[in-house]
Amino acid sequence: MAYGAMFWVEWRLLIENWWVGLMDMLAVDALLNRVSCGKLQQPAPSGEVLAIIQAAALRAADHGGLTPWRFLVVQGEALKALGELYLESAKSESEPLSDAQCQRYLDMPQRAPMVIVAIAEAREHGKVPMSEQLLATGAAVQNMITAAFAQGIGAYWRTGPLAYSDVVRSGLGVSGAESIVGFVYLGTPIGDLKAKPCRQLDDFFQAWPSK
Ligand SMILES: Cc1cc2nc3c(=O)[nH]c(=O)nc-3n(C[C@H](O)[C@H](O)[C@H](O)COP(=O)(O)O)c2cc1C
Repeated sequence: MAYGAMFWVEWRLLIENWWVGLMDMLAVDALLNRVSCGKLQQPAPSGEVLAIIQAAALRAADHGGLTPWRFLVVQGEALKALGELYLESAKSESEPLSDAQCQRYLDMPQRAPMVIVAIAEAREHGKVPMSEQLLATGAAVQNMITAAFAQGIGAYWRTGPLAYSDVVRSGLGVSGAESIVGFVYLGTPIGDLKAKPCRQLDDFFQAWPSK
């Protein structure tokens, strides 16, 4: 190989490695520093940023490659409809609500410009227990909120009684065999992100057998 070409190949490798190294650092940064963000505003993630969040979900560890999940993307006017569903559910389950309580349910989905409903479709399987299919869907949600954080998008994973409400499930078209694993609120963070808790590795990781 001519000296000039060799020189170019070496530079290309250096640049490629530098780029790969930087990407690795950013990935690790997101894994180590992700925090949830509940104060969210417009704009919602869109285009390539949203596609990366969605693609990250589909890369979750998935026993048997069953892809036991599906996701509903709710934004714009549909958030209003989701609020009405929340209110209908609350009305069906409790004493008459005050106007303020009704408004609280209507406003819930407006806490972010986008809500992604993560649904696990766990099926009977000879080798993969249904609980593992739920875990895989949870991993998909974790991938989504980490991919959101890595791109400067705020995210908050919520469930609460509404995730188990028959009214909400039926309004969203969730079948009897499916479970809502989370409502993932996504948007542009308002203000600073909270500090991440400081946890000691030794409190959670122990060698086995212990000495
Ligand atoms: C399955 C699941 C359901 C959750 N549901 C709620 C919820 O309904 N309300 C809430 O405030 N936090 C909920 N959380 C916790 C928050 O998403 C968040 O992780 C927690 O506030 C800690 O913040 P951090 O993610 O920044 O560490 C849930 C977490 C998981 C894994």
